[in-house]
Amino acid sequence: MKAKIGIINVSDRASQGIYEDLPGKAVVATLKEYLISEWDFEYAVIPDEQHLLEKKMTEMADEKNCCLIITTGGTGPAKRDVTPEATEAICQKMMPGFGERMRMESLKYVPTAILSRQTAGIRNQTLIINLPGKPKAIRECLDAVFPAVPYCIDLIEGPYLKTDENVIRAFRPKAK
Ligand code: MTE
Repeated sequence: MKAKIGIINVSDRASQGIYEDLPGKAVVATLKEYLISEWDFEYAVIPDEQHLLEKKMTEMADEKNCCLIITTGGTGPAKRDVTPEATEAICQKMMPGFGERMRMESLKYVPTAILSRQTAGIRNQTLIINLPGKPKAIRECLDAVFPAVPYCIDLIEGPYLKTDENVIRAFRPKAK
């Protein structure tokens, strides 16, 4: 099964073309380095509107069969930051370890790491992970959590993701 991965840059300004979509591009570039199994991506740049984000994530999960969706941006405390709310609204299970691990890593770089409410969750057979919108944060956060992503996708019966071990090593505990 060829894996499909959804990437959504949630940003009022990027969606209006005021900012270049750097975080979304950084996610694609990072995944291209990580993954050696076949994959394809669905891509979107949308404004910070909770209903639009819920609709896009639901479509990528349910209709496009993405095993993984990565969002960038909208995780902070500002009024229009609603990415974690949208994620929680459409997931059956939250995976708080992802946000904890990413904040722990980001704190090595910026004290404002604690301003990100980034989280992760499972909707049926899709893992959704929120990243902050700063392009530099993308690699910092993905390097921290990606070793656990392929096994998480195994557990929700998604496709087998194989990583380039010279770049990032996926950890799969031995079968019970
Ligand atoms: N994490 C990393 N690794 N690097 C960063 O520069 N910026 C922080 C935080 N997490 C940052 C980071 C800041 S300043 C904010 S406001 C929050 O992420 C939320 O960012 P967002 O609203 O773009 O998602």
